[in-house]
Amino acid sequence: KLVYILNGPNLNLLGKRQPEIYGHDTLDDIEANCRDVAGSFGIDCELYQTNSEGGIVDKIHEARDTADGIIINPAAYSHTSVALLDALNTFEGPVLEVHISNIHKRESFRHHSYVSTRADGVIAGFGTAGYALAMRHMATLLE
Ligand code: DQA
Repeated sequence: KLVYILNGPNLNLLGKRQPEIYGHDTLDDIEANCRDVAGSFGIDCELYQTNSEGGIVDKIHEARDTADGIIINPAAYSHTSVALLDALNTFEGPVLEVHISNIHKRESFRHHSYVSTRADGVIAGFGTAGYALAMRHMATLLE
């Protein structure tokens, strides 16, 4: 089984970007943690990041043919993108949404996520550990 870990805009700067909110881990650290957890369940994973909305849409389309599940941190597009939601609605496997920060504790414009109306589960505010926790749950969903 293969799980995509998709990341939206500005997450390439993780580790350097507002560490008081997002912590010091980089995307490489997150990928390594997810790979450990996934591997213990015999699952493979691939992490992808792009700053462009269309880039995530394209990757979700690709996932329709290649991936069994999607873990996604849509970042700012969570709060704005019907296109991402529509793309995820064409994907048949489980979708888990991750936010590093607790979006409900922050500005009101972060409280709503279009992606959450499709996600099978949402993790917010567990820091970068949320990705590995999502992977653990994904393994259960893919059993
Ligand atoms: C985020 C929360 C979003 O509101 C923000 O735009 C991000 C990151 C998070 O992981 O906490 O870029 O998705």
